[in-house]
Amino acid sequence: MSLNLILLGLPGAGKGTQAQYIVDKYPIPHISTGDMFREAMANKTPMGLKAKEFIDKGDLVPDDVTNGIVKDRLGNADTKDGFLLDGYPRTLEQANALAEMTDVLNKPLNAVINIDVDPNLLTERLSSRFICRNCGATYNKLYHMPKVEDTCDVCGHHEFYQRDDDKPEAVKNRLDVNIKMNTPLIAYYKERNLLYNVDGNNSIDDVWQQIDSILSSL
Ligand code: AP5
Ligand code: MG
Ligand code: ZN
Repeated sequence: MSLNLILLGLPGAGKGTQAQYIVDKYPIPHISTGDMFREAMANKTPMGLKAKEFIDKGDLVPDDVTNGIVKDRLGNADTKDGFLLDGYPRTLEQANALAEMTDVLNKPLNAVINIDVDPNLLTERLSSRFICRNCGATYNKLYHMPKVEDTCDVCGHHEFYQRDDDKPEAVKNRLDVNIKMNTPLIAYYKERNLLYNVDGNNSIDDVWQQIDSILSSL
């Protein structure tokens, strides 16, 4: 059976963190539109430069651009046993575009996991996040420090950075924009009987326990 999944959640809800646990257990690719845009920005591709204008302000990249990169990515051979979408879809237009893609590819969704977190917790989580420069592993000054000081648990490197859009000016707009889009998106998947809600207010481990038991039940 294939496992075609979506992770929904506001900025800082823990999508990337939980995605890592999921793909460690299930051999499916982690497809994060945010990561794809950051890679394109780092490589200064035309798409990356266009996306940067939106991302640095905390706005959404236009749907046609985002739908285009996901369509290409889902066509890759490595999605044959499934995929994990993180941060896509984020608008109803994207949800409809994805429905068309999964129809054409004959890869119906199995579950949409919504990590629900009190928005008041998110500013703090985002402003204390830091990321390994070498492998992209994500840490947190308050909630998830590397086991050995200044050393990435995953790859052993010592250099870390903060995302530009985690600076205070961008965070507020990112949260506002995403909160507005979130409710209709949740309703969309609830109507289609695909939605699983997870309480994301507690520890990283606690959230993983909830997701693990949902996936085991599918
Ligand atoms: P993207 O990179 O997806 O950013 P985001 O949605 O804002 O989400 P984040 O990656 O910030 O948060 P996360 O949920 O992954 O949390 P994490 O696990 O890191 O997108 C970036 C931008 O690209 C968007 O703003 C937009 O401009 C553009 N874009 C992307 N997709 C798009 C789309 N579909 N359409 C249009 N534009 C798009 O955790 C956060 C921190 O908290 C970490 O430090 C972590 O260690 C910590 N943490 C995690 N879980 C817990 C917990 N349970 N308790 C305590 N701390 C925790
Ligand atoms: Mg993320
Ligand atoms: Zn690393």
